[in-house]
Amino acid sequence: MLWWLLGAALLARAAGFYLPGLAPVSFCEPGNEQVPDCKPTIELFVNRLDSVESVLPYEYTAFDFCSEEKMKRPSENLGQVLFGERIEPSPYKFEFKKPAVCQSVCNRTYDTSKASDKNKLEFLKKGMLLNYQHHWIVDNMPVTWCYDVEDEQKFCNPGFPIGCYVTEAGRPKDACIVNPNFNEKDAFYIFNHVDITIHYHIVEHEQLGARLVAAKIEPKSFQSPDCSGGPKFLKNKQTGVFDIKYTYSVKFVEDKSIRWASRWDYILESMPHTNIQWFSIMNSLVIVLFLSGMVAMIMLRTLHKDIARYNQMDSVEDAQEEFGWKLVHGDVFRPPRKGMLLSVFLGSGTQIFIMTFITLFFACLGFLSPANRGALMTCAVVLWVLLGTPAGYVAARLYKSFGGEKWKTNVLLTAFLCPGVVFADFFVMNLILWGEGSSAAMPFGTLVAILALWFCISVPLTFLGAYFGFKKAGIEHPVRTNQIPRQVPEQSFYTKPLPGIIMGGILPFGCIFIQLFFILNSIWSHQMYYMFGFLFLVFIILVITCSEATILLCYFHLCAEDYHWQWRSFLTSGFTAVYFLIYAIHYFFSKLQITGLASTILYFGYTMIMALIFFLFTGSIGFFACFWFVTKIYSVVKVD
Ligand SMILES: *[C@@H]1O[C@H](CO)[C@@H](O)[C@H](O)[C@H]1NC(C)=O
Repeated sequence: MLWWLLGAALLARAAGFYLPGLAPVSFCEPGNEQVPDCKPTIELFVNRLDSVESVLPYEYTAFDFCSEEKMKRPSENLGQVLFGERIEPSPYKFEFKKPAVCQSVCNRTYDTSKASDKNKLEFLKKGMLLNYQHHWIVDNMPVTWCYDVEDEQKFCNPGFPIGCYVTEAGRPKDACIVNPNFNEKDAFYIFNHVDITIHYHIVEHEQLGARLVAAKIEPKSFQSPDCSGGPKFLKNKQTGVFDIKYTYSVKFVEDKSIRWASRWDYILESMPHTNIQWFSIMNSLVIVLFLSGMVAMIMLRTLHKDIARYNQMDSVEDAQEEFGWKLVHGDVFRPPRKGMLLSVFLGSGTQIFIMTFITLFFACLGFLSPANRGALMTCAVVLWVLLGTPAGYVAARLYKSFGGEKWKTNVLLTAFLCPGVVFADFFVMNLILWGEGSSAAMPFGTLVAILALWFCISVPLTFLGAYFGFKKAGIEHPVRTNQIPRQVPEQSFYTKPLPGIIMGGILPFGCIFIQLFFILNSIWSHQMYYMFGFLFLVFIILVITCSEATILLCYFHLCAEDYHWQWRSFLTSGFTAVYFLIYAIHYFFSKLQITGLASTILYFGYTMIMALIFFLFTGSIGFFACFWFVTKIYSVVKVD
């Protein structure tokens, strides 16, 4: 199954990264009659602005840039809205193959004696201080700003700053570093001019016109509207009338080497990640091999010996000398305390597990590439909603086998507890975003739509699953449970529950933390994430390590005659989420320069959601692995 999936994924990659929904658009010069359905005008769209120093994204129109009100904004999918993407039309428009030099787009004048002008200017200054970045889109492709980094490499950033700041001490910040002319102290330099270069590729053998393969931008700052003179700056404490004139130049370059299908590659390749990815995979594989070796050894040697010895003893006296894990056969399937909560967690965990698996599989096939904006998130949300049935089924089935009788509570908790916590957290975050006027705030309509998806589709599906789960006969256990619970003997330090749980999470976390770094980067530093092949591999490695680490610890605990394995196996691998949380806190302080209370609350709010989801996900893997293991070993030995 696994190989088949990997094979399919590789095949899809080889066949081209982009599959459905993204047909190429042909462009041609105005008045060209030869090519049917070609577009003479290239439109530029603008996305929301974001910053590494702040979690809050803002819509383009939140700033007072040149905007276009007359045109309709393109429709967006759920994933885009959830991620705070807001794509809007812009007044920047070009005729294909018609270069332009220093075209005026709009002029803005601010009079600081007027309150509204002053506010706009202050907001712009704040944007420059926090290094907010524009994200422009041409032909569904990011407009990139390529610049040299060390060792003669080029880094292509799918965004560019609105301006930069030189401190009072004369130290240039962010983008001001590159230009030695930016030397005015305590001043903001505004990039009011852009040089755009559009690369196109002519499809010769067919009458298809030209296709755009890259759009690059170079932000510049000019004092005068004819694009000359020194850079345009604004002293921090400047008052009076101040104007900004926005201009652009555009040129067209034919590029024979880049094909349309691989037009994203230059952006992705400029991110030097691949080596460390392989390193991380190797690192994880070593852990997997180590754990698999341990598990195999236990299975083959110890267990085999145990089972052989147990099965030889048939007299009653021999049975008195039972030892190790067999001793607790009358208790291993004793229902755990708080079985209700455990079964609800496992139901939700199963739902998340299947959702992640399918989403990653589609992502691997290239369906959810970055070109398909918001598709990943949409796919995940829709799958989660549709997977209510397995959640209800698993929760009900396990609850029943734990001997529970309050089935109504069980169904309701499965449908509402974990999603409710996530939604409540999300809602609070949204209130903060609303308060800050950020574009990531969900419109009220979307919020209602999400509630509708949850209540009208997910909840009924959960009820349906629970109905089948309760109707089915309970799970058959290989051994009977004694009437009177056994006393658990005094445990040594290593077999006490807490050390085991803390140790259990280390290895799975060790397998994923490098990948985690890239994921956090893509979420918080707005770098593009595209390595879904790696991610799928890491997902599988995570599942294997979680299961194996839990099985190992489960075995040791059973040998120590401690039979409370249900919660412990869940918590053992679920503890990976605690490491995730610690890592996220470390990431916050070491990698991000987030300032402001709202941003900090948002960061931790979103991190809590991720940690909770991750906890349910890893915890369920651990439980089911251990469940399988326990059922297996006790069904092999003969029990009176
Ligand atoms: C902006 O001002 C310049 C001169 O200062 C003028 O040439 C240009 O046409 C103006 N642009 C617009 C869009 O009004």
